[in-house]
Amino acid sequence: MSKKEIRFGVIGCGLMGKEFASAAARWLHLTDVDFIPRITHVCDAHLPATEWFRQNVASVTRATADYRELLADPEVDAVYCAVPHNLHQQLYIDIIKSGKHLLGEKPFGIDLAANEAIMRAIADHPEVIVRCSSEFPFFPGAQRIAEWVAQEKFGRIIEVEAGFWHSSDLDPNKTINWKRRIATNGEYGCMGDLGMHVAHLPFRFGWMPANVRALLSKIVERRPDGKGGMADCETWDNAILACEVKTDTQAFPMVLSTKRIAPGHANTWFIRISGTKGSAEYSTKNPKQVAFLPYEPGAEQAWHMTDVPYKSAYGTITGGIFEFGFSDSILQMWAAFCDEIAHGRDNQASFQCARPEEAAMSHKLFTAALESAASGMTVSMNWS
Ligand SMILES: NC(=O)c1ccc[n+]([C@@H]2O[C@H](COP(=O)([O-])OP(=O)(O)OC[C@H]3O[C@@H](n4cnc5c(N)ncnc54)[C@H](O)[C@@H]3O)[C@@H](O)[C@H]2O)c1
Repeated sequence: MSKKEIRFGVIGCGLMGKEFASAAARWLHLTDVDFIPRITHVCDAHLPATEWFRQNVASVTRATADYRELLADPEVDAVYCAVPHNLHQQLYIDIIKSGKHLLGEKPFGIDLAANEAIMRAIADHPEVIVRCSSEFPFFPGAQRIAEWVAQEKFGRIIEVEAGFWHSSDLDPNKTINWKRRIATNGEYGCMGDLGMHVAHLPFRFGWMPANVRALLSKIVERRPDGKGGMADCETWDNAILACEVKTDTQAFPMVLSTKRIAPGHANTWFIRISGTKGSAEYSTKNPKQVAFLPYEPGAEQAWHMTDVPYKSAYGTITGGIFEFGFSDSILQMWAAFCDEIAHGRDNQASFQCARPEEAAMSHKLFTAALESAASGMTVSMNWS
């Protein structure tokens, strides 16, 4: 099958820039896709960070420290931008104005005002496809839960809990980085960092919080600054958002939590739904298994644990045999984004990347959560 080549520029050659390069290098793992990304141009303000790409990605022919050079390159069709949050507004707007498609990293602007500016640029450039990175819903267990929601298998929903828990900041001796500073990560702290991952599926299901009461914690207050001294950690480590969801037909409590300091959790993303006819649970802690508990009045309650097949949005060469992991979820997300570029918004993908509108909703929720934490009150959401 001949494949449409999509030429990519990468802005931000850190952790996530490399993760994309790794997914692009493993494109042969996907079956039945008639498109392929080729990274041609990379950019990092710290130019030595581009060296890894030069050494490991044969298709990279250009590297720059100035992203405007990359945007002026006619041999770049689309851009992946993975830079600190304070840069999202300027860079995303410039990318969109350059006419190149964009997969931007969450939170899609450091705060609500930055996000609104990005949303205005998107509205002014409908010809450009813009999506927000969020890979966990591509895990097969999460896809199974999305199918069950579409099939209305839960009856009346009793409650929902979703979270993303890390212990990456449990060690107080870990040196401070940009994610612990308000100027670069934003007031949202862990919500900006992890929250879009948690909100993606609930928002996709139409479960909009009518209000939120937030409990935000700062646990490690100072960290080594890497220069022999100590520096203040300014951002929230953990957040618990207790929301009341109201849809046209249902009302139920939903707890969304994002934690940088959750002992025992390395990178745990989960969603639990309890309902009168069925309940389900999926966690990347146990990535193969998805649990479902059907319920008939008076009948026994028995959880059914399924080793869910490696089946996400796109087929893979060995998926029927082996299990799925984090890098597979990244590969699937990239396939969904490239599919939209290759085939337009009407492509046949079973699950599409997070939309800018979903990222914008997360900003409204996190802004209300900050207000709730400051006032100690429940804050109503206005989605109009
Ligand atoms: N989807 C995910 O699972 C996931 C995971 C981690 C981080 N992220 C997001 O990815 C983004 C980047 O995070 P990261 O962990 O890769 O950060 P990182 O610190 O590893 O990399 C960021 C890179 O951006 C570069 N940079 C800074 N200013 C720049 C500029 N003006 N022009 C070009 N490059 C510049 C830095 O030098 C650095 O190499 C953030 O938005 C973060 O929230 C997403």
